[in-house]
Amino acid sequence: METVVSGIRSTGKLHLGNYYGAVQNFVKMQHEHNCFFFIADWHSLTTHPNPADLHGNVKQVLVEYLAAGIDPEKATIYIQSEVPEIAELYLYLNMNAYLGELERATSFKDKVRDNPDNVNAGLLTYPVLMAADILIHKATKVPVGKDQEQHLEMARTFGNRFNRMYNNEYFPEPYAFNFSAKLVKIPGLDGKGKMGKSEGEANAVYLSDSPEVIRKKVMRAVTDAGPTIENQQKPDEIQNLFDLMKVVSTPDTLQHFDDLYNKMQIRYGDLKKQLAEDMIIATAPMRERIEAIANDEVYLRQVSIYGAIKARESAQKTIKEVREIIGFRKF
Ligand code: TYM
Repeated sequence: METVVSGIRSTGKLHLGNYYGAVQNFVKMQHEHNCFFFIADWHSLTTHPNPADLHGNVKQVLVEYLAAGIDPEKATIYIQSEVPEIAELYLYLNMNAYLGELERATSFKDKVRDNPDNVNAGLLTYPVLMAADILIHKATKVPVGKDQEQHLEMARTFGNRFNRMYNNEYFPEPYAFNFSAKLVKIPGLDGKGKMGKSEGEANAVYLSDSPEVIRKKVMRAVTDAGPTIENQQKPDEIQNLFDLMKVVSTPDTLQHFDDLYNKMQIRYGDLKKQLAEDMIIATAPMRERIEAIANDEVYLRQVSIYGAIKARESAQKTIKEVREIIGFRKF
């Protein structure tokens, strides 16, 4: 049994990328490992959310974790800001994280490019906080999507550097994990890159979207004029639709549309209709539970209190040992 940690930023509703990249793995891993799944509300502060929205966004992720099947009796589910030990470890790790390596992180460079007016220190040290999230429980496995791979590499660097600095093999090395053996990148519907919350409403399909909304979004997905030669390589926007089909449809369905494409008989309208229906089926069990769980305030309070107690127990043990290693002593 290994220790597993993963989190999702509290920036709104979960989409299929979050689900297939991360949450689906959480649900499976909770049966086999010692799992800690949290809501990264501190991380969400890097983009300065409105105080009026913060709690609702945290609640949304908590509700959707539960709706997706994370069982609070099996896994520890908690809210990052309720475990202050993480902030303490972040402080220590910041002392040996260097400016150059933080500036080179792809996620930092993307953020600087997209939001040049808000290049705050929290953005720069985002990977350090993420390392603290993971190392606080001495985790070895971290279920995440492909976009988080570099952050995991940095978490290993910070943990190893701490170990070397204090000549103590304290932190184990955490590795990104997906059950499918490869980390995944779920594409969006806009014909460009990955599915994401900041890429516009139409790019992402959310777990809470109604069947009508899913149909509308998928039917509007970008396509081209169709293949002009047999067995033609698919352009990105078409490959994206096939990649989405790979996760929500049966292998037979995928094969069927692939054959049609290769024979130049594909009708994108049919493919999109099928894709939308399969997305609706894949998300139905979660969609149905989201509302009921969201209305059960007593249950949500219980889950978050119980989770915070369990997470702090584990975190306090680490912080106590880390303080000893660093050399803090009581008078
Ligand atoms: P976040 O909130 O952006 O995304 C949460 C999880 O969803 C995955 N994901 C995707 N996977 C595949 N395809 C996509 N299109 C896609 N979009 C999102 C992400 O890879 C991620 O696993 N920094 C993290 C949150 C975090 C964390 C941690 C994760 C904070 N501390 C400690 C693990 C361990 C983030 O912003 O994820």
